Amino acid sequence: MRLHTVLLGFTLALAGCAFAAQATGPIVIKFSHVVTPDTPKGKAAEKFRELAGRYTRGAVRVEIYPNGVLYNDNEELEALQRGEVQILAPSLAKFGRLGVREFGVFDLPYIFDGYEALDSVVDGAVGRLLLSKLETRGIHGLAFWDNGFKSFSSNVPIHAPGDMKGLKMRIQASSVLEEQMLALQAQPRVMAFSEVYQALRDGAIDGTENPHSNLYTQRMFEVQRYMILTNHGYLGYAVITNKTFWDGLPTEIRIELERAMAAATTYANQIAREENEGALTAIRASGKTNVYMPTLEERNAFKRALVPVHKKMAARVGEDLIQAIYRATGFNPDN
Ligand code: LMR
Repeated sequence: MRLHTVLLGFTLALAGCAFAAQATGPIVIKFSHVVTPDTPKGKAAEKFRELAGRYTRGAVRVEIYPNGVLYNDNEELEALQRGEVQILAPSLAKFGRLGVREFGVFDLPYIFDGYEALDSVVDGAVGRLLLSKLETRGIHGLAFWDNGFKSFSSNVPIHAPGDMKGLKMRIQASSVLEEQMLALQAQPRVMAFSEVYQALRDGAIDGTENPHSNLYTQRMFEVQRYMILTNHGYLGYAVITNKTFWDGLPTEIRIELERAMAAATTYANQIAREENEGALTAIRASGKTNVYMPTLEERNAFKRALVPVHKKMAARVGEDLIQAIYRATGFNPDN
């Protein structure tokens, strides 16, 4: 047999395999996250699932694994890098694990005083720069999704920074959040999200910080008697995918998935605020947690205690980046 006949036969066999592989069914995307389906992130993931199926006319099937059923927050990034899941939406606090320290800016207390300030950063050059830093880790950033602004909760009343002295407070794995708790003389305890309810119930920790939707949907309000509406920090997400997987998708499929992600992102950011307001109303209505609204003076006392964390963490997260955010949002650390 002549060489080109062998090669032709080999090529045809390969083409047949590729066709057979496509004929075996849709491309499956496993989308794993750690919150419940009825949170802003859970609902936006569901929107993406629905639109991805519709826009690709069934060529892609998105399977959502909520509540950390596949991987908890300590495991999910590595699972994505290994290609065991294709999409995640970890909170921005969790990217320090990858060694991308710049993501710590999102954890700096009071740096964003509302969703608009936040949008001016993530929708611009800073947001693009941060996502691009993930590429060398084998990760492609797709979008930023909002959740909301955090409040402290505890089993003792908190009205002033001094009330937090000695309290064991759960934090996400973030050096900035650790420094934040130390600035309040509290004891930071890093813990996976899925373990927090039990730890609060058992008294292994005294309190935590959350946007209202997480406090409510994890039922933490049942085991936290007090909450103070500090809005001292932001919790949002970067939606990310395995870069090899994403780059290997047929171009027309990738375009449709990007379209679905853009629509899911608009939806996520539209519902986040009202979902958090609804959760706060439900927490109040439960009567289980005493929700305290600080006075302006009390709020300023927390600000004075916490804004110095920016300087302390500047060498870690990047002084230039912090200054770029101040410029974009108009934040003045001296006010
Ligand atoms: C947390 O661990 O508190 C959050 O990151 C959970 C989440 O995904 O909102």
